[in-house]
Amino acid sequence: MGRETVIVLDFGGQYNQLVARRVRECHVYCEIYSYKTEIEKIKELNPKGIILTGGPNSCYEADSPTYTRELFELGIPVLGLCYGAQLMQHILGGKVERAAVREYGKTELQVDTGTALFRGVSPETTCWMSHFDSVSNPAPGFSVTAKTANCPVAAAEDAERKLYAIQFHPEVLHTPEGTKMLYNFVCGVCGCAGDWKMDSFVEQSVRSIREKVGDGKVLCALSGGVDSSVAAVLLSKAVGDQLTCVFVDHGLLRKNEGDEVEEVFGPEGNYDLHFIRVNAQQRFYGKLAGVTEPEEKRKIIGEEFIRVFEEEAKKIGAVDYLVQGTIYPDVVESGLGGESSVIKSHHNVGGLPDYVDFKEIIEPLRDLFKDEVRKAGLELGIPEKLVFRQPFPGPGLGIRIIGDVTAEKVRIVQDADAIYREEIAKAGLDKEINQYFAALTNMRSVGVMGDERTYDYAVALRAVRTIDFMTAEAAEIPYEVLNRVMNRIINEVRGVNRVLYDVSSKPPGTIEFE
Ligand code: XMP
Repeated sequence: MGRETVIVLDFGGQYNQLVARRVRECHVYCEIYSYKTEIEKIKELNPKGIILTGGPNSCYEADSPTYTRELFELGIPVLGLCYGAQLMQHILGGKVERAAVREYGKTELQVDTGTALFRGVSPETTCWMSHFDSVSNPAPGFSVTAKTANCPVAAAEDAERKLYAIQFHPEVLHTPEGTKMLYNFVCGVCGCAGDWKMDSFVEQSVRSIREKVGDGKVLCALSGGVDSSVAAVLLSKAVGDQLTCVFVDHGLLRKNEGDEVEEVFGPEGNYDLHFIRVNAQQRFYGKLAGVTEPEEKRKIIGEEFIRVFEEEAKKIGAVDYLVQGTIYPDVVESGLGGESSVIKSHHNVGGLPDYVDFKEIIEPLRDLFKDEVRKAGLELGIPEKLVFRQPFPGPGLGIRIIGDVTAEKVRIVQDADAIYREEIAKAGLDKEINQYFAALTNMRSVGVMGDERTYDYAVALRAVRTIDFMTAEAAEIPYEVLNRVMNRIINEVRGVNRVLYDVSSKPPGTIEFE
C-alpha cells in the first residue's frame, strides 16, 4: 500500500462502516478488514494507524473475537473503540467487567483536553454510549483521560506506546465532537497528512483493478442506476474495452431512460467499452401478463432479468470477472467480522446469474455509502443528471403499477411521472424531496371531459422526505404545484381522469406504491 492508510479491524459492531467513513471524511484513506486477518497481512499493509471497532461480545469470554498481543507492539498507533477498547485493555492486562449500570444513549462526558486525542474538544461534552461491559482497571502504562457519571474509564491512553482506548462511539453523530477525536487520532497521533480525496479513491481503484484484471475479460450488468453506472465507468477507466456492459431494457424504466443510458454508455457515448442493449420489453410484458400480486411481479422481473442477462453472457462466452455495483448498504452483515458478509440477493438484479461463466466477482464500491458513490461518479465525469438520479427500484415501474402490467399502463405511468418530475424540478423542489414519483392505481372511475363521459385511471403522486429510507414522511408540496401537475397530467396523458396525492407516511405505508 503506497499511500497512507488507516485500517479498521472489524469485530462485528454495527457502526464499523461509519468509522471508516469518518476517517475518509478526515481525508485519510481507510480500509476495513476482518479481525481474522493475520498479523502478517497487517504488517504487509503497513498502515499509519489501526482502529479496532466495537462488537457484540464480552472480551473475557473464551470464544470471543480476539487478536494477538503483537498488534500492540508493532509501533503503529492503535485506537480501540468500545469492544475494541475493552479488548485492548484485556489483552494488555487491564480489567474488564460487566458494568454495574448498563450505559446506553447520549451521555455527558468529561475529557482531559491536554491529551492528543481530545485536543480542541470541550472539557464537558456529549458522547454516545452503548455497552454492558466496561474497563474497571486500565492496563499498566495507561492513564484515564475521560469519564462519565457511570463509567470511570470512558477513555484511557498510553501516549508513549500510542495506544488509545475509548469506551464510547466517536463515529456516530450523537457524539458531536467525535469526528474531531478521530481526526486527532488519524492526523495528530498517526501523522497522516489528510490529503486523500475521492479522486484518490478513483485512482487507486483503477490501479488495483488493472493489476487484478490484467488482460482478462470483464462483464457488467448495467441498470442505468447510479451504482452500476459508477462501477461500469470505473471498470472502463481501468480496463477499457476488455469490459462489456449488458444493459437489459425491461420496458419498466422511467420515460426515455433506456435511450439516455444508451446515449451515455453506447457507441456514441463517452466511454471505452462494449455496450450491449437488450430490448426485452415485450418479453417482460409477456411474462407479467395477468400477474397482479406485487411479490410475484418482483420475482418474475428479477428472474427474467437474470435469464436475459445469462443469454447475452452466453453469447459473449467465458469471462474472467463479473462486476457488481454493490454498495455498502447492500452488504448484509451476518455474524461477525465483515468477512462473513454476504451479498443481499442483489435486489436490482434478482440474484447472481447461475450460468454465467466467470471466475470472480469484482465489487469496487462495496465499502462506499451512497453519497460517496455519487462523489466518485462526479470524479469520474459521469453526467450529473445520472449521478443524482433518485433511487429507483430494480423491478421498476412493474411495482408502481398496481394490478397487472400492460404496455399501455407503462405508457401512462411513464408520461405522468415525467410531467411530475419536470414540474417538481421547475418549482425548485427536486433537491429537497428525497424521492418522488407517479404510480398508477388500478382504479378507474367516471369523469367528464369536454362534455364526454370518461372512465379512466387515477394516477397517484408520491413524494417523501426521509433520511435513511427506513422511515419517511409525505412531503408538503405547495398546492399550486400539485394543481399544475394535476392539470398537465389530465390534459396530456391519455387514459387518466384523476390525480391523487398520497399523504401516508412510512410506516405504516412504504415509500413505493405497490
Ligand atoms: P420501500 O417501498 O420499501 O422502499 O419503503 C424503500 C426504498 O427502497 C427502494 N426500493 C428498492 N430499491 N430494488 C431497489 O434497488 C428494489 O427492489 C426496491 N424496492 C424498493 C425504494 O424506491 C425506496 O427508495
